[in-house]
Amino acid sequence: MNHHSVIIGTGGRLGSALRTAIEAVHPVTSLCRQDLDLENLDAIPTVLAALDFDKIWLTAALTNVDYCESHPELTKTVNSEAVEIIAQICAKKGAQLILFSTDYVFDGKKNELYTESDATNPLNIYGQSKLLAEQYLLTASDRHLVIRLSWLFGNLHPGFPEWVISQAIKNDALSIVSDRQSCPTYTADVIEALKPLIHGELEMSGILQLCNQGVCSWQEWAQYCLDCAAINDIELKCHETTSCLMSDIKSFAARRPAYSAMSSERYQSVSGQTMPDWKLGVSRYVKDYLAPQLKK
Ligand SMILES: NC(=O)c1ccc[n+]([C@@H]2O[C@H](COP(=O)([O-])OP(=O)(O)OC[C@H]3O[C@@H](n4cnc5c(N)ncnc54)[C@H](OP(=O)(O)O)[C@@H]3O)[C@@H](O)[C@H]2O)c1
Repeated sequence: MNHHSVIIGTGGRLGSALRTAIEAVHPVTSLCRQDLDLENLDAIPTVLAALDFDKIWLTAALTNVDYCESHPELTKTVNSEAVEIIAQICAKKGAQLILFSTDYVFDGKKNELYTESDATNPLNIYGQSKLLAEQYLLTASDRHLVIRLSWLFGNLHPGFPEWVISQAIKNDALSIVSDRQSCPTYTADVIEALKPLIHGELEMSGILQLCNQGVCSWQEWAQYCLDCAAINDIELKCHETTSCLMSDIKSFAARRPAYSAMSSERYQSVSGQTMPDWKLGVSRYVKDYLAPQLKK
């Protein structure tokens, strides 16, 4: 069979990396916000009707958790209602929709790795909107797939490692939240893990969690980013982070789960592949991508 994929969200971190991986294998149509604005629900059927595809990868979403908290209607439109429309179009066409979702669907009360079958209970508007999208998608077709990710970092859109290192270059003190834990996840490792699906060697449906191995707090993640920066000769003013609490951060409009680390066990048992440790991902990212830009 000749595959043709559509990616919605190629202006973003994951969407751009996915495009590079998929276009090496089969034809792909890339849609960024200018091609399809998900705020305009009426435009979705028209844009998709003009395309031939057997799979849509949907990475586009409003991803700023605090922005979502103060824009609940817009968040529901983009992150949930648009997904429902796309899921139904795909179901009618016999195409598969693959949606990227989040660890924010959990409330953090579990204290050990969440599995795909654990109860969800999002604490904020972003998490609620992504959970609703998951439900719309799974109702529309039992072929559709939800892939939950956590603490994604990678090139194109600056994320946590860039922020931490840039702060440590400018300031001699850096206080980072220590009462929130999850799994940092490198886009390059997500793309590598998705290759069997991209190549059509593996078909999966339902819910799948995909994270780098290991659990840490934001502070531990930040500290490791600084350790990697120092090893790679990035000149820092601050080498040691100090700890603060989520409740100390006044700009956090949205509540966040204290613990939302997810197990990738389902992926590993189906694919036979193991997700790399998060520290390996961070050290490769800093060495290969950030250090060449940041060191003098
Ligand atoms: N980042 C994380 O830590 C994380 C963790 C777990 C799950 N996820 C999920 O993984 C997926 C990819 O995340 P990411 O880090 O690649 O996000 P990202 O870099 O923020 O990219 C999101 C993309 O969505 C686009 N978008 C936003 N509103 C839109 C609209 N109305 N119409 C069309 N496009 C719109 C943005 O367009 P512009 O470029 O024009 O703004 C951006 O290109 C998301 O679904 C997210 O929920 C992310």
